Amino acid sequence: MEVLRTRDELRQALDRSPRPVGLVPTMGWLHAGHRSLIARARSETATVVVTIFVNPRQFDDPSDLDRYPRSEAHDVAICAAEGADLIWAPPVTEVYPPGFDTTVAVGAIASPLEGAARPGHFDGVATVVAVLFGLIRAERAYFGCKDFQQLRVIDRMARDLAIGTEVVGCPTVREPDGLAMSSRNVHLSAGERAAAPVLHRALVAGRDAWAAGERDADRLRRIVAEMLAAEPLAEPEYVSCADARTLVELEVVDRPALLSLAVRFGPTRLIDNELLDGSEG
Ligand code: PAF
Repeated sequence: MEVLRTRDELRQALDRSPRPVGLVPTMGWLHAGHRSLIARARSETATVVVTIFVNPRQFDDPSDLDRYPRSEAHDVAICAAEGADLIWAPPVTEVYPPGFDTTVAVGAIASPLEGAARPGHFDGVATVVAVLFGLIRAERAYFGCKDFQQLRVIDRMARDLAIGTEVVGCPTVREPDGLAMSSRNVHLSAGERAAAPVLHRALVAGRDAWAAGERDADRLRRIVAEMLAAEPLAEPEYVSCADARTLVELEVVDRPALLSLAVRFGPTRLIDNELLDGSEG
């Protein structure tokens, strides 16, 4: 496995690598969720490229960027264990060289939910992923469904710009108590960590009500919100029940829907979701 820093090193390594190429874009601090993406890429493609880049353009809050966890040695060990072939861990100037002056802005699908809560966030995500797609020209790229809206934004961008990389969504990986794997979990205090599985419990309560026949979106949102309200450390930012295709809020759940939430535990903001489409978890 090679660890590469520059665009030139990456290009040269890709030139001598077999195709198809599978790309796993990350911001590092890899966990079991990333492992599952790398393993999926390993099983489907001949060359697996993992990128590790904490992208400053997608942070709406500078303190969030400063405290984003980083450990390249830990990440390299995980990539090696999962059988990645190439790691691209560039400095900021290799991703955004002097003179870089383009922003990729995806439309409606990027507007609600995380787009509304974190202005500019999806412009930053779409821009960096467009650079990665352009440089690596992978046949497939793998993203987790925990960031469901991100997955949809990237898929829209790749299709609209005819990039030729297939965007593959992979199931959310959870801790045994249901908490979705996230690099941000490391910031939770012991008490917050003990409280955080309420996110999944609340979403499952909503999903169970839907499975039992509840179709009033407000009532589903309320079931989730009431469960969150019972946890004093949880400060909900939003609870959404939206059309899974457009992410527009629903009144009646008469089509596949996404039940999603963003909740703060102290300074740490976590998101999670459940699809209401008849598929499991
Ligand atoms: O999900 C992430 O880790 C990031 O948003 C991504 C897709 C690597 C872009 O920086």
